[in-house]
Amino acid sequence: MKPAPPATVETLDQARARLQLWKEKRGAVILAHNYQIDEVQDAADYTGDSLELSRLAAKTTAPVIVFAGVQFMAESAKILSPEKTVLLPVREAGCPMADTVTAEDVRRARQQHPQAAVVAYVNSSAEVKAEVDVCCTSANAVQIVNALTQDEVIFVPDKNLADWVARHTSKRIIPWAGSCCVHNDLHLKEVTRARAEHPQAALLAHPECRPEVCAQAQAVLSTSGMLKFVKTDPGSEYLIGTEVGLLHRLRQENPTKTFYPVSAAMVCRSMKLTTLSHVADALEFNQHAIEVPEPVRARAAHALEAMLQLV
Ligand code: 13P
Ligand code: SF4
Repeated sequence: MKPAPPATVETLDQARARLQLWKEKRGAVILAHNYQIDEVQDAADYTGDSLELSRLAAKTTAPVIVFAGVQFMAESAKILSPEKTVLLPVREAGCPMADTVTAEDVRRARQQHPQAAVVAYVNSSAEVKAEVDVCCTSANAVQIVNALTQDEVIFVPDKNLADWVARHTSKRIIPWAGSCCVHNDLHLKEVTRARAEHPQAALLAHPECRPEVCAQAQAVLSTSGMLKFVKTDPGSEYLIGTEVGLLHRLRQENPTKTFYPVSAAMVCRSMKLTTLSHVADALEFNQHAIEVPEPVRARAAHALEAMLQLV
């Protein structure tokens, strides 16, 4: 086994220089989710929401993808581009919501509802994706469900996204009981308090938020959906109902507008694990390579590709 790399204590500038050096040597592309810490977002070749990053992972010609995000995102990149090396800088960066449903749960739900299609939010494991008909992200969940021929849809794992979809389709949605600890912990009373503090600000909410929070929002959007909305909206103040990492790009791309987090507690601990030094280490020491057993990968690819083809 390759020896563990030495613990690196370096300045941000040193980490940036090391990252650049090894990125060029490896011919790598760096993808970062919109919730990553500011300096990791700034060092990435592309930042985006889950859908944008999946599309980029599927079409990049780079032999190495460093995915600054969480496990299911890097896993999706590997599923879509098995010939590439996909590196997750921090092995432990998981998504607690993805862990709320197993492949066995999906098989059981199918037995109980044999007529239903099964849709998995991309925030799920490769094993779960391998059991479902199609994946979706927060950006396309409603369109994916509406594009299916079945009238009944088992939707895993996020109950709040399932509720959002159910409100925008005539189909019967059978939800799973999972949720995101960051978004589901945002309660109406915090929204009310934030609105009282910033009465001019429009509220934008992520569909992983509770239904009563989404009902208060001017728009319910994926992270990149919020970035696009703000660009063309005539307003100048916004309350952002998603993980605080998105505020970095919102402020960078809209310097004349003002953004407030609805709650400063909306921090995804897993997303915040990755530092610039971790990204540089990933490149220098070729760690941590994602592997998905081929039978699982092929079936999971089917569900992800079905999503990319549908919308
Ligand atoms: P987006 O696809 O909207 O970026 O969301 C991913 C996610 O994990 C939300 O918590
Ligand atoms: Fe998972 Fe929630 Fe973190 Fe998104 S914010 S990665 S859903 S725990």
